[in-house]
Amino acid sequence: MTAPSDWQRDLMREVGAAEAGEERPRPATPPAPARTPDPARPAAAPAPARTPDPAAPTRPRTPAPAPGRDLAPRTPGEVQRPASAPEAAPVADPRLLLALGSPRHGDPLARRAGAGLRRLAAPAAKEAGDAARLAEAVQQPVTTGRVLAVTSLRGGAGKSTVAALLTRTYAHYRHDPVLGLEADAALGTLPLRLGARTVRWTVGDLADVLTPETRLTDVTGYLVRLEEGGWLLPASRGQVGNPLAGRTYYSVALALRRHFGVTVVDCDSLPGQVARTALGTAHARVLVAPATAEGVHGTRQVLDWLLGLLPAARENTVVVLNATSPDATLDPATARAHLGEPGVPVVLLPYDRHLGQGGPVHTDHLGEAARGTALRLAAEALGRAVRTR
Ligand SMILES: Nc1ncnc2c1ncn2[C@@H]1O[C@H](COP(=O)(O)OP(=O)(O)OP(=O)(O)O)[C@@H](O)[C@H]1O
Ligand SMILES: [Mg+2]
Repeated sequence: MTAPSDWQRDLMREVGAAEAGEERPRPATPPAPARTPDPARPAAAPAPARTPDPAAPTRPRTPAPAPGRDLAPRTPGEVQRPASAPEAAPVADPRLLLALGSPRHGDPLARRAGAGLRRLAAPAAKEAGDAARLAEAVQQPVTTGRVLAVTSLRGGAGKSTVAALLTRTYAHYRHDPVLGLEADAALGTLPLRLGARTVRWTVGDLADVLTPETRLTDVTGYLVRLEEGGWLLPASRGQVGNPLAGRTYYSVALALRRHFGVTVVDCDSLPGQVARTALGTAHARVLVAPATAEGVHGTRQVLDWLLGLLPAARENTVVVLNATSPDATLDPATARAHLGEPGVPVVLLPYDRHLGQGGPVHTDHLGEAARGTALRLAAEALGRAVRTR
């Protein structure tokens, strides 16, 4: 692992330069702006936020250019569109999605019926009150876009699942635009989990296109509009490609974040370069720990390392103890206490049959416990992110 002091020093130098408006290195020949109709543009400009967006107070009211119009930049800061749009690629082989079958509900039928009867017999006023309080926290206004980075020590811990749950939850409750940003170029699964069918533009493509001045109406033309709400920017077109550089991730995240109330970043595993950059620059961090002895042990070590480096991270880190298998035997109370000892909140995400299918995440199919956890986690993470300057 790179010495922590090194990566942090490098990172902060990079970030400082970007914040100060220092120019990113551009390719020797910048991509020519398209002056001909661009078939990659969506048929109509994606609708803006349902209500005024507090995260983008300067958002222009002009609609995005319709396809077939001249899309060339007109003023400095407008989009530098590459000469040719990448081909759209399917997120997964349609035969596999067929083979997945219908989405299962997270709770078996008997449990759902039992819960319904219990609710009829004794309306759970406290639970309803808690849910209303959490929903309010998830809906709280933000003055500038908040970025939440989701990462873990190991692959398969549940980062993309948690990132998808958070994106879905914020998109459901919030009135400003929400972005799921994939920062794992190694065949990440966020597009699939968020129900995208095809992807075209990637984080890497946009690094040379976006600037912090690019308008939302131009930005959304590059993103996938999600059927269940929110937007997505993938990191790959489903092919093994070059890893994403921390600097590329940061320049794109910086250009996008002001347009979205909340950006949820699905990072690679630690100590990957993007994960370290995202951890160092996000407003809140979500660390996913698999509910196994080694998973909890390793995550605690990472947590101690992170808090040793950045003591302030205690204020804006949330740990998710995630049961990716129905056969987990680790006592959740012990695991939770161990992870929470350094003073960070730990949220338990139980095994959920719907999440376990590995297909698109539909919030209405989540079991009651997983749905409650998603809401609590979204409230915890955003509450911390808004307190971060
Ligand atoms: N709470 C859960 N209940 C059931 N299954 C889960 C749960 N969390 C994750 N899974 C399953 O575990 C597997 C791994 O999850 P996921 O892809 O989110 O991990 P990851 O950390 O993003 O992996 P990678 O490092 O490869 O990107 C997936 O098949 C997912 O469906
Ligand atoms: Mg993943």
